[in-house]
Amino acid sequence: MAQSARITQETIEKLESSGLSALAVHLGSLDDRSAHALLEQLELFDLDEIGLLVDRYGNNYVPPSASGDIKPADCFALDGGWDRETYGTKGADLVKGGKVACFVVAGGQGSRLGYEGPKGCYPTSCVRGKPLFQLFAESIRASELKYGTSIPWMIMTSPLNHDATRAFFDEHDHFGLDPKHVLFFNQGVMPSFDKDTGDLLLSNPTTLATNPDGHGGAYKAMADSGALDTIQAMGVEHVSYFQVDNPHAKIIDPTFLGLHAFAPESSGQMSSKMVAKASWDEKVGVFCKVNGRTSVVEYSDLPEALAKQTNTDGSLSFNAGSIAIHAISTRFIRDVLADSDTALPYHRAVKKVPYFDTGSGSLIDPIEPNAIKLERFVFDALRVADRSIVMETDRVEEFAPVKNATGTDSIESSKRIQSERAARWLESLGVSIPRDAAGTVDATIEISPLTALGPEDLKDTDLPDSIEPGASIVL
Ligand code: UTP
Repeated sequence: MAQSARITQETIEKLESSGLSALAVHLGSLDDRSAHALLEQLELFDLDEIGLLVDRYGNNYVPPSASGDIKPADCFALDGGWDRETYGTKGADLVKGGKVACFVVAGGQGSRLGYEGPKGCYPTSCVRGKPLFQLFAESIRASELKYGTSIPWMIMTSPLNHDATRAFFDEHDHFGLDPKHVLFFNQGVMPSFDKDTGDLLLSNPTTLATNPDGHGGAYKAMADSGALDTIQAMGVEHVSYFQVDNPHAKIIDPTFLGLHAFAPESSGQMSSKMVAKASWDEKVGVFCKVNGRTSVVEYSDLPEALAKQTNTDGSLSFNAGSIAIHAISTRFIRDVLADSDTALPYHRAVKKVPYFDTGSGSLIDPIEPNAIKLERFVFDALRVADRSIVMETDRVEEFAPVKNATGTDSIESSKRIQSERAARWLESLGVSIPRDAAGTVDATIEISPLTALGPEDLKDTDLPDSIEPGASIVL
């Protein structure tokens, strides 16, 4: 038997023994050239593992329930009771010493926003329409200048947007950052499979339909790409993690980094930021103590009775909404990787995935969700940290997400929050801001990260006494 025919036969047997028989039949029906193309992709996966996952997350799926002892997580409150200044100084020393890198996860499909390109290229700032990547780059550059250091930036992409993301940075000269310190890498993918039959879906006769493996794929992607080795070789000990959809992410926050690395309540492994939930049913994960360990419980998994529970002053007991900002030590990333099956379980989502139908030989665009996608979540690793702290922050200051095309967490709502934050900074310095009867800012105000990362950076800036109603201002 020719070598290629032998490999095809071996793979067919492997697929059959892994319970992936439909794909085995399809592979057997292909000519040599087509079979070779499909085999190349199949080699990237552990077929035994895929077979087990299909079995577990397909028809035999048992939904997880937030069980055990669930309590609200302790938080370092916004209104104090802890030594903000000392931790700020210690965190600033970490940054100045080159011990901090930043990391944005930008591999998602961004389907809710419905934008063609990578989400990071989406025009987002409220006056100039600067793309998210530019806002982050300028914020990092401003931090480099403020702390007199260089700060490596890791950008995780997926095969869907890797080339377009790199090209965007090349076109814009990396927005003034040193290209040597901007590390792009691809995350992994998982095969999508039919929700009823468990058959792996094909996007064409020789290619499996795949989906990015979730933001939790970040741990493996950092290691596999060599980015983790690179930043460790540069002396980095902590990573400041954020999502591509939040233009208000305070990428370098010395207070948070200091608390994460030095508070006795923290093991310095993985820490998080929270904002007070807007309502009991806001669709954000909530920081809880589950069986004594800090965890994020997804809004859909938090029992309604707990979500609605209040304290004696009427505030929500489970109030700590996650804004997906974490500090993670490089050492902890290695620990998580060593134990990723326990630390990072897969989560399933039922979605619409177009597929090549081997029976009819045509491409099908399903009307209803037809497929299961498996993803890992970055925050699941919190549960394997020894002691993990949560710091409260102000919603307007640090959370202006752009997730949807319209409505909640859309570009319109994000722009309103951007102007509100800028207005607050200016008001704290005595500038008079026009507001309507409901208190909403009646102007559009953009403050470049290169001008200020916070109100303290505006003290030496020439500011107007007041802003005209309806004005559009850029500082
Ligand atoms: P979301 O959960 O908002 O998913 O990702 P998404 O894919 O971007 O958007 P939708 O749900 O299709 O509308 C939160 C963050 O995690 C990143 C996203 O890029 C975003 O920064 N992410 C998500 C990845 O990097 N990889 C993934 O596989 C999933």
